[in-house]
Amino acid sequence: MINRETIDKIMDTARIEEVVGDFVHLKKRGTSLIGNCPFHGEKTPSFHVSVTKGIYKCFGCGKGGDSVRFIMEHEKYSYPEALKFLANKYNIEVEETVESVQDVEAQNARESLYIVSQFAANYFEDQMWNSQEGKTIGLSYFKERGFREDILKKFNLGYSPDVWDALTQDAVKNKHAEEFLEKTGLAIRNDKGKLYDRFRGRVMFPIHNFTGRVIGFGGRTLKTDKNVPKYVNSPESEIYHKSNVLYGLFHAKKAIRDQDNCYLVEGYADVLSVHQANIENVVASSGTSLTIEQIRLIGRFTQNVTILYDGDAAGIKASLRGLDMILEEGLNVKVVSFPAGDDPDSYMHKVGAGAFKTYIEDNRKDFILYKANILLAEAGNDPIKRAGIIRDIVESIAKIPDNIKASVFIRECSSLLQIEERVLLSELNTMRAAKLKKASAPQGRQQYQQHPDMPPADFLADDYEPIVEIPTSDEDKEQEMEILRLLIAYGHELVYWDETDNMYIGSFIMQNLTDVVFKSGLLDRIIKHYWDSIEKGSLPTINTFIHNEDKDVANVSINVTTSPYELSPNWENRHNIYVRHESGHLKKTILDGIYYLKKKKIGEIKKKVVNELKTETDPVNIDIILNKCILIKRVEMSIASYLGNVILE
Ligand code: CTP
Ligand code: MN
Repeated sequence: MINRETIDKIMDTARIEEVVGDFVHLKKRGTSLIGNCPFHGEKTPSFHVSVTKGIYKCFGCGKGGDSVRFIMEHEKYSYPEALKFLANKYNIEVEETVESVQDVEAQNARESLYIVSQFAANYFEDQMWNSQEGKTIGLSYFKERGFREDILKKFNLGYSPDVWDALTQDAVKNKHAEEFLEKTGLAIRNDKGKLYDRFRGRVMFPIHNFTGRVIGFGGRTLKTDKNVPKYVNSPESEIYHKSNVLYGLFHAKKAIRDQDNCYLVEGYADVLSVHQANIENVVASSGTSLTIEQIRLIGRFTQNVTILYDGDAAGIKASLRGLDMILEEGLNVKVVSFPAGDDPDSYMHKVGAGAFKTYIEDNRKDFILYKANILLAEAGNDPIKRAGIIRDIVESIAKIPDNIKASVFIRECSSLLQIEERVLLSELNTMRAAKLKKASAPQGRQQYQQHPDMPPADFLADDYEPIVEIPTSDEDKEQEMEILRLLIAYGHELVYWDETDNMYIGSFIMQNLTDVVFKSGLLDRIIKHYWDSIEKGSLPTINTFIHNEDKDVANVSINVTTSPYELSPNWENRHNIYVRHESGHLKKTILDGIYYLKKKKIGEIKKKVVNELKTETDPVNIDIILNKCILIKRVEMSIASYLGNVILE
């Protein structure tokens, strides 16, 4: 067992934002950090990390906990495994007390697979740099292809000798159990029960998971014989699940985050070459078509993907459809294609690192427009083919979850395809309607229906971080406090919209505030507390708040539910009077509260967006901002029409 001191040390050292940040792309919002929850598929972030509390909490699926819990959930580790993982991350020495044989065995099984994989990686590397065969065959092969030594070392490339069981023998000699060689697929048992190496006479690419541990290998043959497979790869194992691994991610993740973009290539060689051009934010799907897990993996680090294609037209066309999946996950997709016959690897070696980098920067195109152009060129003037293209393009656009972005593409494609925007839009809507019909009802919080009277709940969602950056004025504090008051005083009461439709005021307010970021940290805390309760299936009553353990919560609750003028000793009594007086037109009071707050918030967003517009120069972004303006206007109008005043501008 890991001893108490070690556990305490790990708990003291591990910072929740760093631990989670390795797996989830976090943005600052209000008092917490938010991102897309890694535990359930989502496109608008409801996953919160509280730095001060050292915990995470998803308001979508309800998962929450501390750093250790996160690693356990995410990596499917046991408690001690998670502790060791964190200890390793923070270079903390783990002190263990003796444990039972079974415990050790269970924990060590997976660990042993990692260990033997690392052993093999070291072995192959050593062979390439130090053995005669490795140097003359493996190393010289890489050098002939123009790879620099630092790149070969960075990726721990190696060579597996052309011998029946070289690795197996060395591993067994070093006390690695045959069982683990077999389970990782490094060795295969023949009919006679004898083990032999899977990889023989190949240059070796170790595959790391994104925490940097070796989990598998790809081995490339050096023969030109067509009957020999170019690559032999490790099979799936307990530690290697191909569909959620991206080659190079470990070496790329920091750069992906820093650059807020991920280059996607096809092969191992491409990853090496792009790195050699000093572009480090690159990963490969390694031959298989991109999986949804791989896309989500990228999505944890950035929302922007740039595909580097080789120049062969047939290949491009075939992969176009696969890219829709990336759009569907809400990521922005750009493409760079290379001249016919070249892939990123060959092109880099042809033109050199500097020119390669420039080429990529100059030839980046938005995926949808790129796709439209390719299909258009292919269709020529054939009207039937052109009609097909329109469907095809709109289908891609329909995959984009963000309406604003989608409408920008509709506009651009309208001019590109020379078709009226309205025609494309109606096509888009038809497709979306069909899709909606197909989709089953989403889970959890999303299944709440927005009340038809309300402005759209997600108008602040996604890439907006408006409230945080706006210079704080205390102007909307009043509105925030009003909401809090309503929540605390009436949250557990039912409001009747009509005979068939009633719901708890607390739930109603909460679901209409999913898009609002509160300025007051305390308020934010109370709101989250509220969510917690709702998700546990209960609504907090007024007593929960005024008798709260948290002194600040109790105080503010007492304040907002009592008269603003004085805090009377018999406030409870006064409070009841207040409630009775107000509850006669509760529905209006609640709606007023929400609308006035939204009015404030949208006002702030508008200010921010208008400022963005002043400084933005990229026409595509300007278009996006203008569309935001239109949406804002629409929301403003719906608020105004409720509140009964007209916006004159
Ligand atoms: N691949 C594979 N098995 C094959 C061929 C390819 O697993 N028989 C995978 C490898 O992950 C490879 C990727 O598909 O990296 C892309 O294939 P390719 O472009 O042929 O490989 P490169 O890595 O670019 O290799 P090279 O440039 O050395 O030919
Ligand atoms: Mn290649």
